[in-house]
Amino acid sequence: KKQEAWSARFNEPMSELVKRYTASVFFDKRLAQFDIQGSLAHATMLAEAKVISPQDLASIERGMAQIRQEMADGEFQWQLDLEDVHLNIERRLTEIVGDAGKRLHTGRSRNDQVATDIRLFLRHEVDRIQGLLRTMIKSLVDVADRHVDTVMPGFTHLQVAQPVTFGHHLLAYAEMFERDLERMQDCRKRINRLPLGAAALAGTTFPINRHRTAQLLGFDEPTRNSLDSVSDRDFAIEFCAAASLLMMHVSRLSEELILWMSPRFGFIDLPDRFCTGSSIMPQKKNPDVPELARGKTGRVYGHLSGLLTLMKGQPLAYNKDNQEDKEPLFDTVDTVVDTLTIFAEMIDGVRVKPDNMRRATLEGYATATDLADALVKKGMPFRDAHEAVARAVRYCDEHGLGLEQLTVEQLQEALHLGELGYGDELVNPELLGVLTLEGSLKARNHIGGTAPEQVKQAVAATRLRLKL
Ligand code: ARG
Repeated sequence: KKQEAWSARFNEPMSELVKRYTASVFFDKRLAQFDIQGSLAHATMLAEAKVISPQDLASIERGMAQIRQEMADGEFQWQLDLEDVHLNIERRLTEIVGDAGKRLHTGRSRNDQVATDIRLFLRHEVDRIQGLLRTMIKSLVDVADRHVDTVMPGFTHLQVAQPVTFGHHLLAYAEMFERDLERMQDCRKRINRLPLGAAALAGTTFPINRHRTAQLLGFDEPTRNSLDSVSDRDFAIEFCAAASLLMMHVSRLSEELILWMSPRFGFIDLPDRFCTGSSIMPQKKNPDVPELARGKTGRVYGHLSGLLTLMKGQPLAYNKDNQEDKEPLFDTVDTVVDTLTIFAEMIDGVRVKPDNMRRATLEGYATATDLADALVKKGMPFRDAHEAVARAVRYCDEHGLGLEQLTVEQLQEALHLGELGYGDELVNPELLGVLTLEGSLKARNHIGGTAPEQVKQAVAATRLRLKL
C-alpha cells in the first residue's frame, strides 16, 4: 500500500488540487542542503543527549550522505505527495536507513525545522550579498579614482547647479552602498539565532541541548521563546527592507545611467553587452539593464510589502500562512544577487565622456554661487551678492555668453553694482578666476567636498575602510 504523508487520523484522501495547493516542495526544495545540515546537527545533539543511539546517528549520517549524492546527480525523486522539502528528505532517509530515519524527528517539528532552514539559507545569502556589495563598491571607487578631477554639472531639480567631479558623484553611490552593507551586517545578527528546539510551539519533553545545536550550526545563540521562534519571520522582513533600500539605490543610479546615456546628456556610454537594440529602429542602442533594474526594484518593494502583510494577521504561533514566506524571499535574494553581479561589471565598463560633461557644466552658469561667495568675501552681504549675480546671469543670457567668458568691464556692467550701491572696484581680474570650473572645484576643499584633493582622499579612505 502506498504510504500517505499523514496518518490513520485521516480517512479520506486529499484531492489533487488540494495537494498542489498545500504543497511547497516545488519551491522549498531549494532549502534541501540547509535542511540536511540542520537535521545532521539535530541528530548529533540527540545522540550526545542519548536520545538516539550512536548507531542511529551513524545511519542518519550515511543516509544523508547518500541523499546529498542523489541530489548532486539529479536523481533524487521529489514527490508532491510528500508536501515539502522536509518530508521528502525524511521519507527518503527512512527508505535508505530504516528505523534510524524514523527517529530523526524526535523532539523536533517542521515548524522549528523550517524556521531553522530559512535562517541558514538567508545567512548564506546575506554573506554572498555582502561580498557582491563590496565588489560593487570597488567598481565605483575604481572608476571614481580615474575621475577625481573630471568635471561634470552637479544638479538640483535636474537643473545645472554647481560643478562637481564625476568621481565625487560616483562616491555618493559608494556611500549609499556602504550603508547597505552595514544594514546587511546588522540584519545578519538577528538572522543568526537558532529556533530549533522550539518544536511545534511549546518546546519538547526530550533533554535537548539547544546551545550545542546552535554551536554545530554556527548560530550565535538559541532563540529565547519557543512561540516566537516558530511564528515570527521578522528577520526575513528585515532583510527584504534592507534589500529594498539597496534596490532603491540601484534604481537611482540606474535612472542616472539612463539619463547620462541619452544623447541629450551624452555623459557616458554603456558597453554594448549591457544594451539591446530595437526590432524596428536600426539605430537604437537601449540601456536595458539599468531600466530593468529600475523595474525590478518595484518587485522587491512588492515582496517587502507582501511579507509584512503576510504576518500582520497571524495569531501565535505557527500558521500555514508562513509557507508563503519563501517565494518572495527567494525572489528578493535572486533579484539582488543578479542585479549586483551585473552592475559591478557594468559600472567598471562605463565609458566616460569628459568633454560633454564639461560642455554641459559651462552651459549652466554653474559657477554663479562662486561669484556670489567671492563678492561676500569682499564685504558684500550675501543677499546683495545673490541679487547682483542674478543680474549678471540675466545679462549673460541676453548676450549669449557664459559667466567665465566675461571681461572685467562686462562683469562690472553685468552685476549692476552701482544700482545696488557698490563701486565697480569690487570687480578685478582676480575675481574672474573664481568663475573657472577648476577654481570652483578646488575651492570646496573640506571633508565631504568635491575638490579633487578631497575626492582623492575619499577614494583612499573608502579603500582602507572596506579593505578594497
Ligand atoms: N512547508 C511548511 C512551511 O513552509 C513547513 C512547516 C509546516 N508545518 C506545519 N505544521 N504544517 O512553513
